[in-house]
Amino acid sequence: MKLSIITSNPGKVEEYRHCFDGLGVETVHTKIPYDEVQSSELEEVVGKGMYELKKKSISNFIIDDSGLFINCLEGFPGVWSAYVQKTIGNGGVLKLMDGAADRSAVFKCCIGCNIDGNDIIVTGTCGGTILEESRGTEGFGYDPIFSHNGTESFAEIPIGEKNKISHRGHAVSLLMEEIKKYLIYDGKP
Ligand code: IMP
Repeated sequence: MKLSIITSNPGKVEEYRHCFDGLGVETVHTKIPYDEVQSSELEEVVGKGMYELKKKSISNFIIDDSGLFINCLEGFPGVWSAYVQKTIGNGGVLKLMDGAADRSAVFKCCIGCNIDGNDIIVTGTCGGTILEESRGTEGFGYDPIFSHNGTESFAEIPIGEKNKISHRGHAVSLLMEEIKKYLIYDGKP
């Protein structure tokens, strides 16, 4: 089975390759621009993105929309995570949280997968905390300020370890469960 990973983010492509390795799914990185609607729900952004791509007769693909939802900031940056990362960055987020007692946050990853004409949408989550300062050089985006266990940041652990616990790794597990149902339904091994 071959799926196109449609994204402009090389960090995500690398993680998908790792996740699908050994699951019998070949991934191909493809860059196809499509309109991303503004919505307060990741699922709606992904659903509309899939619709746009299918209108262009594109099939067998994966898109995703992810975000970091910080509790003391009422879920901000959430669906605006990409814009906030590009503008104020991790330093700006840390400043916004200066003195915050509650540093809990959730990473969410919503994957939309079109496979053999079927649409699957799943959302994976990973709870954790926002550290007091940036740490580590691995990963991308908010990885240096997010910790799943309160000690190491996502940027301080190898990609294979991150995928076992991350929102994207969780979403991929949910997706594989769904894909298996279609394979069974189609009578394929
Ligand atoms: P998008 O899904 O590409 O719109 O990503 C939203 C924002 O969240 C971007 O700034 C990404 O860099 C960031 N982001 C998404 N996934 C992760 C992750 O696994 N670690 C750190 N930052 C992430």
